[in-house]
Amino acid sequence: MFKEFDSLVPPQHFINAMRGVASSVTVVTTDGPVGRYGATVSAFSSVSADPPTVLVCLYAGSRIASAVKENGRFCVNVLPEKAQEIADRFAGRHDGWIDDRFSGIDCIGACDIPPIIYGASSFLCSLQQTVKSGTHLIVIGHVQDILDGCASPLIWRDGSYHKAVRQDLHVSRVAES
Ligand SMILES: Cc1cc2nc3c(=O)[nH]c(=O)nc-3n(C[C@H](O)[C@H](O)[C@H](O)COP(=O)(O)O)c2cc1C
Repeated sequence: MFKEFDSLVPPQHFINAMRGVASSVTVVTTDGPVGRYGATVSAFSSVSADPPTVLVCLYAGSRIASAVKENGRFCVNVLPEKAQEIADRFAGRHDGWIDDRFSGIDCIGACDIPPIIYGASSFLCSLQQTVKSGTHLIVIGHVQDILDGCASPLIWRDGSYHKAVRQDLHVSRVAES
């Protein structure tokens, strides 16, 4: 079933398979000595509860990756399901006509604090470690504060946005009808 251990699947095979994997949509923000930046990121994971640690994977050549490294702090804002436009904005899809990705976006924060997007579930982190892997930088942070937006998350799968539906509720509603 498996080929030799040292052979890898072609990148396109990997990309196609990963399209089927669902993930939350986040906006990673940072502010500090090199300025304020934000980018949409789906590669977000919990690492450990003690100490509270998370990771995000950022394209190493991106502005957000170098800004997070330089500023030493970042915030992972897990977007609520209604925030598709914010996700598009921070993925650069509006860069052609909007100079500042943050303009008109409701944020909590002060100068030098990574912006906390209103309505998101936000994890404020201090940069702990970066690891280069392939084209990306694994950014590991210790969580210093959490603001729970308590909203249903926006999901990314197969190149489009989705809602998370509670399976047990769905099943009982089907049974009721
Ligand atoms: C749903 C979605 C998920 C994304 N996830 C990631 C990701 O996990 N890591 C990443 O580096 N870029 C990701 N991107 C692409 C970045 O948002 C985009 O390249 C952004 O412009 C990078 O910021 P920069 O222009 O400041 O460098 C994603 C885009 C979308 C639409």
